[in-house]
Amino acid sequence: KRGLIIAIDGPSGAGKSTITKQLADRLGYIHIDTGAMFRAVALAASRAGINVDDDAALAGLCRGMEISFVRDNGCCRVVANGEDVSAAIRTPEISLLTSAISARKVVRDFLLGLQRRMGCNGGVILEGRDIGTVVFPDAEVKFYLSASAEERGRRRWLELTARGEAISLEETIAAVVRRDRQDSGREHAPLKRADDAIDIDSTGLTIEEVLDRMEACVRDRE
Ligand code: C5P
Repeated sequence: KRGLIIAIDGPSGAGKSTITKQLADRLGYIHIDTGAMFRAVALAASRAGINVDDDAALAGLCRGMEISFVRDNGCCRVVANGEDVSAAIRTPEISLLTSAISARKVVRDFLLGLQRRMGCNGGVILEGRDIGTVVFPDAEVKFYLSASAEERGRRRWLELTARGEAISLEETIAAVVRRDRQDSGREHAPLKRADDAIDIDSTGLTIEEVLDRMEACVRDRE
């Protein structure tokens, strides 16, 4: 094995992506954004006009899908069937659709296999909702990264408005709360803190402070 398997789970907007990317850089690990994989499936389903509860069509879609991450100048692009979908998967519409699509077992099973193959050699940090509970329950280090709903909504809103999306702060917070409810309430692999996860509440902390804490935890176990 080339290193540890590190799992980072938590609700949307807790800073998982930013933190995971930077922690991976500090450790020289590979960053696997599993949310982006669910988003890529959701985007493909939306383009193909597939209904979220049409499991047969979703299974067919997954069978024909190839998802990979391409590192480009320190930036990680998501490539689905040869197309760079990094920007297209980040719209508010696809976020909501992803939350619904990711509740489908056929989709979860497909991505579960892919995620395990991508991570099994170690030297990886996977971020998502069920990494420490389902994908890699034996991960050497598990973090549960959270922050208050207001703070998470505010961060997402800053991100979206910076990209020119016209959305209000209240709407963004409401969307975050709604997605939390969908992700925690679903039957298959709901968002849940693993019993052995280290809790990190990033409310009121800077990125550096969060990273320092997490890096110290990892170094302790290396
Ligand atoms: O992390 P991100 O916000 O990009 O994830 C998008 C959606 O994908 C989440 O709201 C969740 O429904 C789903 N997801 C999941 N399991 C994961 C990662 C993401 O169900 N491991």
